[in-house]
Amino acid sequence: MLSNQAGDARRSSLHGNWSSRMAFILAVTGSAVGLGNIWKFPYVAGQNGGGAFVLVYLVCVVLIGMPVMMSEILIGRRGRRNPVRTMELLGREEGSTGRWRLVGGVGGLAGILILSYYSVVAGWTLAYTLKSVSGVFSGAGPEQVGAQFDSFVGDWRLVGLAHTIFMGLSIFVVARGVERGLEQAVRFMVPALLVLMLVLLGYSISTGYFAQGVVFMFTPDFERLTWGSVLAALGQAFFTLSIGMGAVMAYGAYLPEETSITGASAAVVTADTSIAILAGLAIFPLVFANGLTPADGPGLVFNTLPLAFGQMAGGVFFSTIFFVLLSFAAWTSAIGLMEPAVAWIVEHFDKTRAQATVAVGLLIWFVGFGSVLSFNVLSDFEFLAGTIYDNIDYLTSNVMLPLGGLLITIFAGWVMCRNSTSDELGTSGNLFRFWRVLARFVAPIGILLVLINAVR
Ligand code: PHE
Repeated sequence: MLSNQAGDARRSSLHGNWSSRMAFILAVTGSAVGLGNIWKFPYVAGQNGGGAFVLVYLVCVVLIGMPVMMSEILIGRRGRRNPVRTMELLGREEGSTGRWRLVGGVGGLAGILILSYYSVVAGWTLAYTLKSVSGVFSGAGPEQVGAQFDSFVGDWRLVGLAHTIFMGLSIFVVARGVERGLEQAVRFMVPALLVLMLVLLGYSISTGYFAQGVVFMFTPDFERLTWGSVLAALGQAFFTLSIGMGAVMAYGAYLPEETSITGASAAVVTADTSIAILAGLAIFPLVFANGLTPADGPGLVFNTLPLAFGQMAGGVFFSTIFFVLLSFAAWTSAIGLMEPAVAWIVEHFDKTRAQATVAVGLLIWFVGFGSVLSFNVLSDFEFLAGTIYDNIDYLTSNVMLPLGGLLITIFAGWVMCRNSTSDELGTSGNLFRFWRVLARFVAPIGILLVLINAVR
């Protein structure tokens, strides 16, 4: 009976299907590539001392991120519902319990919390688009660019307004639904972003500090590596790949049956990681060339890239395009962050997509003011991990996402029977066995080890 429920929905999801395999890859890439690659990766790498952090991050992406992503997609496609319902149905179908729905629930909450601050930083990128057009960065030095940033984030009304606009845009596109909203935007955004990162890289090479940047990023100094930075690297891997909270699971629910999950995951992971590494290679030489410090925090990208654009021929043009693209990238990620909660409300309370999106969006908008104020009025209000923003970030990236990933791999590796997973992955043989070893042992044990050591 219950297996029938899941079975009936298996052919197509309640929310529509992706038009093609490419559309799915584009959507997941759009969700993965965002502020996490260009804003967060360099600043977290900088705060954690560079080289060793980057190495651990790459290891986490391959050995943990990849199997978690594949598990999430296969669970999503098998359940064909929102992550809460999917986990509940599959939990029962596989002879375990419907309580697995909690994994979906906590994931939806993580998405809401992440978007609450993500939208604030996305608001900064919107504002920086306007600043770029106005030409304030032309020929500007480090002090001027730094002052621009400080005075902007210091004004909570401006930051709040930008956050409000970004949430409005996100609500708009999520309310319109899967197929109409997503595919087109990502199709040109990711390649264009790659091209611009290469332009920036070219400039960084010309500063003469490129080697220093490369050394910082790729020479691991394990003496300085703490369990705290290992956890930060794991958290960054989850965050940047959009895994551990059900976004990819929700997208998987709309995936046609014949698509290869392994191939799609590999494509997304490769694109996402390349853009992050490129961002780091472009940014760290600028940090050193301008006497800034890598550990500068969330303002790092906003204090460095405008310097490069300000010196470049055609800088106003490139800078504007860059921040437009970054806003777009943030936008396509915001969709993934809202999707699990929205899909749950649509199914659970029988609401329209528009109603659900507005409700979730307003909640996120409201919670977001905690982060808006963290950079100005409440910047001295610190507890546990730091400001309100720091705490929400730590809780989501370093606790909720890894825990979600842990439970997802345990579910796919241990609770689901071998046939169900090999059915979905569509492979048998070595590739399947390799995934299964990663999902059953390497990923869960790795995540547990890091979590346990980091909290001790
Ligand atoms: N991966 C996105 C980024 O790197 C953020 C994100 C996390 C999006 C989780 C969806 C789900 O910017």
